[in-house]
Amino acid sequence: MTLHLDIAAVSILIRENGVEAALTQLAEYIEQDYRRWPEFEVSPRSACHSPLGVLELMPIADHSLYSFKHVNGHPANAAKGLLTVYAFGVLSDVATGTPLLLADMTLLTALRTAATAAVAGRALTRKNSRVMAMIGCGSQAEFQILAFKALLGIAEVRVFDIAPAAMDKLTQNLAASGLTIIAAASVREAVKGADIVTTATAAKTKQAVITPDMLEPGMHINGIGGDCPGKTELHPDVLRAARVVVEYEKQTRHEGDIQQLPADFPVTELWRILTGVEPGRQGEGEITVFDSVGFAIEDFSALRFIRDLAKGHEIGRAIELMPELSDPRDLYRLVKA
Ligand SMILES: NC(=O)c1ccc[n+]([C@@H]2O[C@H](COP(=O)([O-])OP(=O)(O)OC[C@H]3O[C@@H](n4cnc5c(N)ncnc54)[C@H](O)[C@@H]3O)[C@@H](O)[C@H]2O)c1
Repeated sequence: MTLHLDIAAVSILIRENGVEAALTQLAEYIEQDYRRWPEFEVSPRSACHSPLGVLELMPIADHSLYSFKHVNGHPANAAKGLLTVYAFGVLSDVATGTPLLLADMTLLTALRTAATAAVAGRALTRKNSRVMAMIGCGSQAEFQILAFKALLGIAEVRVFDIAPAAMDKLTQNLAASGLTIIAAASVREAVKGADIVTTATAAKTKQAVITPDMLEPGMHINGIGGDCPGKTELHPDVLRAARVVVEYEKQTRHEGDIQQLPADFPVTELWRILTGVEPGRQGEGEITVFDSVGFAIEDFSALRFIRDLAKGHEIGRAIELMPELSDPRDLYRLVKA
C-alpha cells in the first residue's frame, strides 16, 4: 500500500513540528542529498509551456529511491482564486517500482525552495548577515524569510511588493516571528543596505527587478522567480557583476536568469561548493547570486523528509496505488465476466 499525505496532512505535520524546525531539518536532507550528487541519475525537467504558464515533471533517482514531482507555474492564477504554484509528488522503491508515498507538495515546494536557498546562503553570504530584502510577498515569501532566519540568523527584513495587500499579509503572518519587518516603498528602498536580497516575484515576462545600480559590495542575491524561459528578475549586468551559483547547469541555462547570457558565462553548481570541490564565498566584497530554478533533488529530499516526519503519526491514508493481485501474472482476471 502507498501512503497518501494530502495538503491537510502535510499542513498538520509541519504545523505540529514547527515551520522553522521543518526548514532546518529539511535543509539537512537537502544538503545531504546534494553532497551525494554523483549517486543520482539527473536530468533537466520536462516542461510543457502555454501562453499562461508551465506544467513540469521533475524526476530523479538514486540506487534505492525514485521520485517525481508534477508542478505548475501560472502567474495569472491568483486572479482566478488559484495558487501560482501547486504540486504533488511520488516517492517509489527502485528495486520493485512500488510507490511508497504520494504527497501533496504545494507546501513542500515552498519549504524546499526556501531551505535550498538557505543552504546556498550558508555558503555564499557574508558572516553575520542580518538584514534581508524580500521582493515579492506571495506564497513563497514567508518561507524564504523564515529559512534565512532559522539557518542564518537574519533579524531584519525589508519587504516590497507591487501589491500592498501582499505586504500586509506577510507582515501579519510574521508578526510573532521576532523579526523586525519594514514595509518599503520601492525595490530600491528595500534593497539599500541589505546583506541578502531575495526576489520571488511572479510575472511571465522578462523583468529586471534588480538592476546593477542597486548592488552593494558583499551582497548576496537569491533569485527565485526567474525560473522559466522568458521569465527573469535580474538585469543581465547584475549577473555579470557577480559569481553565479546554480543548482544544475544544464537546466538553469535554459530556465534561470542566466538564460539572458551566453552559454559560456561561468557558473558553479551548488553541489560542488557543498562537497568542497569549489569554494563558497571568496572575500567580503564579492557579490554572489544563487540563480534558483528548483531542481528535482530538492523534491526527492522533501519527500524523504515528510515520509520520515509522518512515521509514528497516525496520519494520511493507505491507498492501493499499486494493484495487489492474488496472481500477479493474471491481470485479465480483473475484467473477466
Ligand atoms: N526557484 C524555485 O525553486 C521556485 C519554487 C517555487 C516558486 N518559484 C517562483 O517564485 C515566484 C513566486 O512564487 P509565489 O508562489 O510566491 O507566487 P505568488 O503569485 O504567490 O506571489 C508573487 C508576488 O510577486 C509580486 N510581484 C510581481 N511582480 C513584482 C515586481 N516587479 N516587484 C515586486 N513584486 C512583484 C506579486 O504582486 C505577488 O504578490 C514565481 O515566479 C514562481 O514561479 C520558484
